[in-house]
Amino acid sequence: MTDTTLLQAGDRTVPPTADMVALKTGLFIDGTYGPAVSGLCFEVIDPANRQPFAQVARGGAADIDRAVAAARRAFDDGPWPRMTGAERGAVLRRMGDLIAARRDELARIEVRDNGKPLPEANWDIDDTAGVFHFYADLAEGLDGAEQPIPLAMPSFTAKAVREPIGVAGAIIPWNFPMLMAAWKVAPALAAGCTMVLKPSELTPLTALELGAIAAQAGLPAGVLNIVSGFGPEAGQPLTEHPGVDKLAFTGSVPTGARIMATAARDIKAVSLELGGKSPLVVFADTPLDQAVEWIMFGIFWNQGEVCSATSRVLVEQSIYEPLMARLADEARKITIGNGMTDGVLLGPLVSAEQQQKVLAAIERGKTEARLVCGGGVPEGLEDGCFVQPTIFADMAEDAWIWREELFGPVVCVKPFATEAEAIRLANDSRFGLAAAVMSADAARCDRVAAAFRAGIVWINCSQPTFTEAPWGGYKQSGIGRELGRWGLDNYLETKQITRRTATEPWGWYLK
Ligand code: NAI
Ligand code: MG
Repeated sequence: MTDTTLLQAGDRTVPPTADMVALKTGLFIDGTYGPAVSGLCFEVIDPANRQPFAQVARGGAADIDRAVAAARRAFDDGPWPRMTGAERGAVLRRMGDLIAARRDELARIEVRDNGKPLPEANWDIDDTAGVFHFYADLAEGLDGAEQPIPLAMPSFTAKAVREPIGVAGAIIPWNFPMLMAAWKVAPALAAGCTMVLKPSELTPLTALELGAIAAQAGLPAGVLNIVSGFGPEAGQPLTEHPGVDKLAFTGSVPTGARIMATAARDIKAVSLELGGKSPLVVFADTPLDQAVEWIMFGIFWNQGEVCSATSRVLVEQSIYEPLMARLADEARKITIGNGMTDGVLLGPLVSAEQQQKVLAAIERGKTEARLVCGGGVPEGLEDGCFVQPTIFADMAEDAWIWREELFGPVVCVKPFATEAEAIRLANDSRFGLAAAVMSADAARCDRVAAAFRAGIVWINCSQPTFTEAPWGGYKQSGIGRELGRWGLDNYLETKQITRRTATEPWGWYLK
């Protein structure tokens, strides 16, 4: 973390370079960009070369106060919660259109900020636009969605209506910077909430850009406020703020636990999407090519920095040896490099700290498992935060490396003998975010899918994620579901309105 007292944040203070447009670097509060109250900034670093390339405002408690006050006014007195769903949907649809129109530029910012390969950043931005379009439709669907409630008692009628929960505070991670913003911003706005978004200090740029996109799309000032900054300085005051009605968080289990504990003080609603150590179970009747492709994609896409990464692979005994040989072969061939370079499949990890964390985990893994391939920094790429695709085998069930989330390109592979053993090993985890099964036997896939204790189950693939389908975890992987119509529920209250239709006395007092 680098401090600078030089006041540089504001509207487009970073000049465009050959491969990048000008960037928004100020806090977006009440419809305008500006510096932090402290005047401080922090550096944004490209993990492919460890070089800073932008400075953004370093928000703190005073900025969170301003942002929550703006969101509070916009909710309590502003038009947004009072518009029809169709009117809100029109704004969300324009936001989606504007994101889609700027896809190439936004994807490039994402590569510089996060490190991921450009084709994957393109998917992220396509998905981000898609999420806004999806919730535009759902916002429309809220109009007239009140439900009559049949009552047993005569001379009463009742109905249930859904209303926005209020001011939402959203805290997001760095692995899919703009998409994670969309997963929270789009449903919250569709519901009629106003919000304060705090992006990760490691990847603030595309989220900050969302302010300009929202303003251009006609979102009223104060509805969406974006405060870049560090967890303890900006995230913690947001979770503590009495003006916030709901908290939505994606990130690590310890930070999620702390947010939940803080939220308990004044009973804020909380949704949490936390980590995982998700299993992929491969039966012997799976074509080897397909098994290899999905195992690799399941752990090496986005550098393994994916909450749902299938980082534990269970392989049926009879194909274990040939599959391991093939997998190691293919993993060694993966092209590693700067995410901007054509043909690169694995970029740098997001930061030097994350790289050190994963390398230390690999060292610990070497003491309790056999290193099959990878295990270090790729030669010639020492200037960036790179880690080789790494495979471990022969670990015990209670090995640390088998049980803990590493959030890097590291996979543990274990053989199994029977379906029952595979299910037991798969479910033996404190996490329950995702699980995958591959087999040519559809009935077996259905049985295993039903037995998994996880919120997301893939059959004959791993990782494809759809905006329409619910996303979230069992056990310590979180609380609540994002995406689909479930994602909207996070930002809605339910109100019953009961009407007495008779006029004669009730009889408790007046007879
Ligand atoms: P983190 O959970 O600490 O950070 C995520 C977000 O929470 C960031 O915006 C951060 O500024 C904020 N935050 C941190 N401390 C806070 C606090 N006290 N109050 C409020 N907000 C706070 O995760 P971090 O440090 O970026 O990564 C650490 C590990 O977390 C990774 O190695 C990985 O294992 C896991 N992780 C899981 C993710 C997921 O998608 N489930 C995403 C990112 C990280
Ligand atoms: Mg960065």
